[in-house]
Amino acid sequence: MDNDIIILAAGKGTRMRSLRAKVLQTLAGRPLLQHVIDTAKTLDNSHLHVVIGHDAEQVKSSFNHETINWIEQQQQLGTGHAVKQALPAIKDKGISLVLYGDVPLVSASTLENLIAQVDANSMAVLSVDLENPKGYGRILRDEQGHVVAIVEEKDANEQQRLVKECNSGIIAIHNSLLKHYIDKISNDNAQKEYYLTDLIGLLAADGKAVYAIKASSEAEVQGVNDKKQLAQLERSYQHLLADKLLLEGVTLLDPARIDIRGSVQCGQDVSIDVNCVFLGEVIIADEVSIGPNCVIGSLGKTVTIGRGCEIKANCIIEEAVIAENAVIGPFARLRPGTTLEKNTKIGNFVETKKSHIGEGSKVNHLSYIGDSQIGKNVNIGAGTITCNYDGVNKFNTIIDDEVFVGSNTSLVAPLNIGKSATIGAGSTITSNVSDNELAVGRGKQRNIQNWIRPQKK
Ligand code: UD1
Ligand code: CA
Repeated sequence: MDNDIIILAAGKGTRMRSLRAKVLQTLAGRPLLQHVIDTAKTLDNSHLHVVIGHDAEQVKSSFNHETINWIEQQQQLGTGHAVKQALPAIKDKGISLVLYGDVPLVSASTLENLIAQVDANSMAVLSVDLENPKGYGRILRDEQGHVVAIVEEKDANEQQRLVKECNSGIIAIHNSLLKHYIDKISNDNAQKEYYLTDLIGLLAADGKAVYAIKASSEAEVQGVNDKKQLAQLERSYQHLLADKLLLEGVTLLDPARIDIRGSVQCGQDVSIDVNCVFLGEVIIADEVSIGPNCVIGSLGKTVTIGRGCEIKANCIIEEAVIAENAVIGPFARLRPGTTLEKNTKIGNFVETKKSHIGEGSKVNHLSYIGDSQIGKNVNIGAGTITCNYDGVNKFNTIIDDEVFVGSNTSLVAPLNIGKSATIGAGSTITSNVSDNELAVGRGKQRNIQNWIRPQKK
């Protein structure tokens, strides 16, 4: 059977105190709403409807890459009213699942379980026991333990406020019931809103079954209303990701000091020191060690690091393909389009961009290598710069195998340097060098004897 998934995301998110819509605030590098959409998409045969209102254009344009039926809720009159806007797009048969754009970490298996409880005469609500239930709607049960209603905190009496079983907001309900009961919801309450949660009381009063299914963890149903909750959820999510890596056998020197904003896939015996940030997709092979304070990857991009590589402290690797046993850093920056072959060395204060560096080659200190093809076993001396840009155009530098470039050399592109050529230190090289040649391009040294320095009067 097909399911309709209705994601509520029209609220203003006043408490975020941000110019950006609440559902665009990011958790682990992804907008809150993106988390919900990604989970929803893993459910079989689902049609996605997202209800938007505040900052509707901003939200819509951030999700151009998704197939979504956008529904505008002109005025935010409550969660019940929000769901009602989606009903014309929903079939009579099948089940609807209502998710909240500000509850980002609910898992697919929990949702599948929720949907599985529901038939044509029942609904299910995802609940959670909270030590501090403040702000949440409370689940009310009768003496037999049957769910009879949900009362919002603002409408609850003192005794009801003591209830710790809370509403996550997430429900699954048969479409025929949803369509029948939604019109019966009134806004006769403390907030003058149409509460979706009133469905529970309405169905229960008609003898329909309402199941409250407990979430597997608190984080799973945590709503995000302000920056403090966002930060708390970020931490608990990062803990979860770190635990996952640990259980996969990765050594984390301090699991509380790693941030993953994307995915990290590790082989065996990988070690990651403190304060590393991973962005986008990062694929790490066996026996790689990563020093402290590294930033690896960028959103939407991929970095692969081959077996046995050593990334020393304070490196920034934006987008790169790195083969086995490379040694990088400390303080290296690998920009997009960098490919390092086996056994390469990229040392401190070296920046690379759109460059291929061949097996066994070394760029050990203080260099910029851009738009370059470097062969095998090349040595690039300290302070070498590829001058790849004339202010308008970019040009390539091609260096063949076994070349030795002396320190403090400017290689003015376009340039070809032949196999086993040598470049004298301090050269500015502006024309091609053939195989086995020595090129020296610097002012000839003059020594003036008995030179008298200017004297202070
Ligand atoms: C809601 C629930 C509460 C539950 C809590 C869990 C209701 C009445 N209350 O309260 O029982 O414990 O979530 O986090 O449902 N939205 C719209 N249009 C509207 C109003 C809200 O799209 O007119 C969206 C918001 O953007 C948000 C979601 O619905 O994504 C929840 O709204 P919010 O105002 O945050 O509800 P809570 O007060 O947190
Ligand atoms: Ca909320």
